[in-house]
Amino acid sequence: MKKLKTVAMAALLLPFIACGGNSQQNLPATENVQDSTDNQVIETIMARRSIRQYKPQPVGRDTMQIILNCGINAPNGQNKQSWAIRVVDNPEYINGITEIYKKKNPKVADDSSFKNMFRNAPTVVFIASDKSYGMSQIDCGLLGENMVLSAWSMGIGSCCLGSPVRFMQTEPEAADYLKRLNIPDGYELLYCIAFGYPDEAPAAKPRDPAKIMFVE
Ligand SMILES: Cc1cc2nc3c(=O)[nH]c(=O)nc-3n(C[C@H](O)[C@H](O)[C@H](O)COP(=O)(O)O)c2cc1C
Repeated sequence: MKKLKTVAMAALLLPFIACGGNSQQNLPATENVQDSTDNQVIETIMARRSIRQYKPQPVGRDTMQIILNCGINAPNGQNKQSWAIRVVDNPEYINGITEIYKKKNPKVADDSSFKNMFRNAPTVVFIASDKSYGMSQIDCGLLGENMVLSAWSMGIGSCCLGSPVRFMQTEPEAADYLKRLNIPDGYELLYCIAFGYPDEAPAAKPRDPAKIMFVE
């Protein structure tokens, strides 16, 4: 099993090594790959997938608190912590707004696996950015990635979501749910992240290593 993991990790990391990732250290490529396989952070990053099917069991609040603490320990501009975070694990909220969503998008109910508009997750973290600070959206993105990765490292899946937030901002019937988030003045809802225990194991989506270029 360990050997299989090592081979899989080597395959994932090979394009980066081939692009000169080890040129400064002047080490044989295999040595770097071996080091990476023992690195749990890299393993978590490379194994994470967006999850859209979840087991019904909610994520306990103590566990969510660990994930949230990881989030707020992300790097952020001038340590302004220019985010507002709202956690919803109340089925009444999630199912209530989903009913409105279903009314406006009746076709979603044709999918027998559809449970709710947050990709079927039992817990949703809403993230709002400070409109007065130009770097706030970056802060909010880094906050989210820390949460997504710490969650995955504990066996909890997630999916970053833009479309439910757009729905909440544009659909008048959803206004009460937006109001319940109590987003502070001067902030705007940017995206949300669905969390839960995975009930699927999606394949990795391809990435384009040609997007990376070392500039000499
Ligand atoms: C800002 C942002 C918005 C996203 N919005 C949605 C969404 O509305 N619905 C959805 O199913 N996935 C959404 N995703 C998830 C992406 O589709 C997913 O991350 C991407 O396809 C790569 O797959 P992976 O996360 O499994 O590597 C979003 C991701 C990000 C970062």
